[in-house]
Amino acid sequence: MSKKNTHPSVKTELAELADRHLLYQQSVQDVESEIGFVEQTWSELRRRPATRLREDFCGTANTSCEWVSRGADHYAIGVDLDPEVLAWGSLHNLAQLTQEQSGRVELLQANVLHARPGLVDIILAMNFSYYLFLKRGELREYFENALDGLVADGILFLDAYGGFEAPMVLTEPRECRDTQGQAFTYIWDQASFNPIDSGMTCHIHFEFPDGSRLDKAFSYHWRLWTLPEIREILYAAGFAKVDIYWEGTDEDSNEGNGIYTPSERGDADPGWVCYIVAQA
Ligand SMILES: C[S@@+](CC[C@H](N)C(=O)[O-])C[C@H]1O[C@@H](n2cnc3c(N)ncnc32)[C@H](O)[C@@H]1O
Repeated sequence: MSKKNTHPSVKTELAELADRHLLYQQSVQDVESEIGFVEQTWSELRRRPATRLREDFCGTANTSCEWVSRGADHYAIGVDLDPEVLAWGSLHNLAQLTQEQSGRVELLQANVLHARPGLVDIILAMNFSYYLFLKRGELREYFENALDGLVADGILFLDAYGGFEAPMVLTEPRECRDTQGQAFTYIWDQASFNPIDSGMTCHIHFEFPDGSRLDKAFSYHWRLWTLPEIREILYAAGFAKVDIYWEGTDEDSNEGNGIYTPSERGDADPGWVCYIVAQA
């Protein structure tokens, strides 16, 4: 026990008790909607069911777990460089599945630029993880490797974000609840942006009701790619058809309605998120 905690008047701060991966899953991810979109889009584009899914940059493999829980013939391969996050995913997420379901998830510690875990129907690279590739050549290499990892009618699903607030230096707090229903604040921090190379540094901080904080729980240095660049590079890598799925607008609230459809025009929103669907 630390000296600090032996003193009766000193309480343990909530930040010290917090688990950054759990908070990330609660505040950033919505794997049900994500896999919902993937299943719906696949069924619109293909006449056969998809079974094998690869989750690149899988982190805690939350999305892989959602995939295998949706079908007895669903298999998932999660690929990530970081052994710590994979171990966390195995201990916390795979452990929530039945033994039969977790037997259909494989976790691979590898670089997505070179990983060759066997052909799959679907590859996901979500939460903008591929923005970590700063050079066009590297991003193309990643897309080429993804294409090589897909069956002949396979599909790569990506998300992307942008809008005129995306390159601004700003912080954006949002109120969230953890798995126990306790409140915490998720803070997205766009700390710096360099217009010359479009490089940006972003952090995720968490703040708790007792005022304690987990500063820089996650940090990213990435490039703010634009949709035309991403599309061009996907085509250059050999994908046959690349569509942007743009979110519709709810007429009453004037906010996004959560329905994404293939589009050639989008609104000049301050901040938007869309899906990119790249068919092999
Ligand atoms: C932003 S997190 C994404 C987590 C998850 N995919 C999601 O949707 O929220 C980025 C993850 O990518 C991993 N990563 C970064 N570069 C990688 C690479 N070249 N190959 C594999 N994983 C990588 C990191 O270890 C980290 O877990």
